[in-house]
Amino acid sequence: MFLGTRPYEHAATSTAKEPSTLWDDYKQSFHFAPASPRGSFCVGGIVTVHGFLGKRRDISAKAAFIDVVHPGQVRPVQVRSAWDVEGSPEHVLHQQLKSASAYSPVAVTGEVESVGDEENKENSLLRLQSIQVLNEFPRNIIVSKGVQFPATARHLQMRFSEVLQRRLAFRSDVAGWSRRHLTEAGFREFETPVLFKSTPEGAREFVVPTRRRGFAYALPQSPQQFKQILMASGVAGGYFQFARCFRDEDLRADRQPEFTQLDLEMAFATGEDVMQAVERYTKDLFAYLGENYRVTTDDSGDSNFEAAPIPVEALGSVKGTQPARSFAVLPSEPFQRMSYDEVMARFGSDKPDLRIPGEIHRLDSVVPAGFKRMITSLEDPIIDAWRLRLDNGDPYQSREFVKQLFDNLPPALAKNPEGMTAVLIYNLGRPLCGLDPLGHEAFGEITDPSTETHKRLAELADFQDGDILLLQARKREPFFSGGSTAMGQIRIEAYRKAVELGLLPCDDSFRFLWVVGFPMFTPTEAKADDPGQGGHAGFSATHHPFTAPLTEEDFELLQTDPLRAKADHYDLVVNGVELGGGSRRIHVAAVQEAVMRDILKMDDAGVAQFGHLLEALRAGCPPHAGFALGFDRLVAVLSGTNSVRDVIAFPKSMKGEDLSVKSPGRLTPAQLETYHLALRPGKTE
Ligand code: AMO
Repeated sequence: MFLGTRPYEHAATSTAKEPSTLWDDYKQSFHFAPASPRGSFCVGGIVTVHGFLGKRRDISAKAAFIDVVHPGQVRPVQVRSAWDVEGSPEHVLHQQLKSASAYSPVAVTGEVESVGDEENKENSLLRLQSIQVLNEFPRNIIVSKGVQFPATARHLQMRFSEVLQRRLAFRSDVAGWSRRHLTEAGFREFETPVLFKSTPEGAREFVVPTRRRGFAYALPQSPQQFKQILMASGVAGGYFQFARCFRDEDLRADRQPEFTQLDLEMAFATGEDVMQAVERYTKDLFAYLGENYRVTTDDSGDSNFEAAPIPVEALGSVKGTQPARSFAVLPSEPFQRMSYDEVMARFGSDKPDLRIPGEIHRLDSVVPAGFKRMITSLEDPIIDAWRLRLDNGDPYQSREFVKQLFDNLPPALAKNPEGMTAVLIYNLGRPLCGLDPLGHEAFGEITDPSTETHKRLAELADFQDGDILLLQARKREPFFSGGSTAMGQIRIEAYRKAVELGLLPCDDSFRFLWVVGFPMFTPTEAKADDPGQGGHAGFSATHHPFTAPLTEEDFELLQTDPLRAKADHYDLVVNGVELGGGSRRIHVAAVQEAVMRDILKMDDAGVAQFGHLLEALRAGCPPHAGFALGFDRLVAVLSGTNSVRDVIAFPKSMKGEDLSVKSPGRLTPAQLETYHLALRPGKTE
């Protein structure tokens, strides 16, 4: 529990002091003894340790133990205080210790009574000789186990959540390892500007007004254009950067308005070269993690999904966690590859979670027209079907599960204009085993092992009592576009719910996959979320307009039927998360300009915004390809959480606000004046 709705003021008032005492106290905390290196601890020696005071354990009125926890050190140091004679120096010291509030930062000096042993999880023990409180922790902040502070007190959440601390430390370690790995692999680290300019790369940008009337910077949605210019500049065969990226888009658990990419680019390289480099990085990272970390699962009971990675040596020191498993070394064979069309047809998602059992099958040629009319108003729809089998399922349990699933469906699925999902539960006690809405003929065709349909659908149609058959209509289109189908989304929801309810096992393996062969362009309505390139073609680049076509055939299609052209783009996907994406780039300026001008139908002004890039390509830019790993997502996936907020020190809320510092701030009249801005009358916010 956190007392007070205005934490800073509250704490300040409670510790208000007379001015003279205030300055005296400050002067005293200004000088403090340096900490002794841990290696210098020997029994009988006098040492000083720094850290936060833990809870005091009073053994009697005359003896107590207390922990001093240094941030970043695994084992706390234990301090013992004891006295015999009233008024003795030990007695005074003991009183001093008792008056120090828990969690205060202190410098403690004492005589070493025993030296700790990390391996055997033993703490060092000191006999207290002096204690200096460096800044008192407010007594009105109540800290209990598992405390959740409001988002306004992020500093306290980080201070008192062991899991959050471990995740942030883990993040730092993965970043450090990544830097070493890439540097050793011949990549060089470059920084690129954060004050960039507005270009129609794809996502909606944040704009930064300047004092120059009518001029603004834009924050980069990625360092894409700069890294390509670096390739043209010949400064490195391989570039990398931990790049801050900014996108003004709708937020979700896996999306922040500012986030971090581990961004790469390679000169004289193809997409294949980059995919191999990324795969090596990923496998080496898992090997490193396997050696250094174990994943523990919080045993609070409700968090099977939650896993906190912690260093092996910290195991045992953390209450409430238990070792669950190590990071397994990834198989040495190459990651699976599937085309966009294949994953959309089989899993209804361009970032499939390969842990979900069963694939989607088309039933439109099998189910009767009457049934189609029952589930959709679409003319000639496609009918996707997926079968879910719960552990030890029976028709009653399946019905209960379906009810829970549909009671909590996201609005986009609950109100799908193409029709609601139909659910049939296979039940040996019912007419046509509960599949009677499909009619006799379709039932026979699907379930009779001698029919061609059954053979085609075998994976779906070998029903058992309690199986759940979900059917979903969608519009018949010549090709897939966008990131998912309704059936794909419901499949993910159902799997998550079943695991959450313990009706399917929690599979903690990492199932990596490359998704390749994306369409180069996507019709504008399927990309309703982002502004695209502002061309007049009715479509925009699926990823960004610098992506090269996949094959020569796609090069031809660009000119004849661009929506069918495939791009040399590759996404790295694990367990339903798009970890990263990249592509081979168009390295010839005239081709890049033709894609913008003739295919995307961008006007002169739009193309001119990319003038810097076109100039760089024109100056003999070598072929190049690259990739960007969503670093927040990587750390989140490895930590077993599906929210990137759990692995970011200062995340933004779902409304894009940082509640701890209260950003964004309202512009003052003076700022409006300075930046030559005026607010339009109308809405107040
Ligand atoms: P893309 O837009 O696919 O590619 O981004 C790369 C990866 O960054 C992560 N990501 C995000 N993470 C958190 N919050 C967000 N709002 C967010 N948006 C994206 C994802 C994604 O896969 N310039 C290209 C890369 C390239 O072609 O080299 C790019 O930015 O994990």
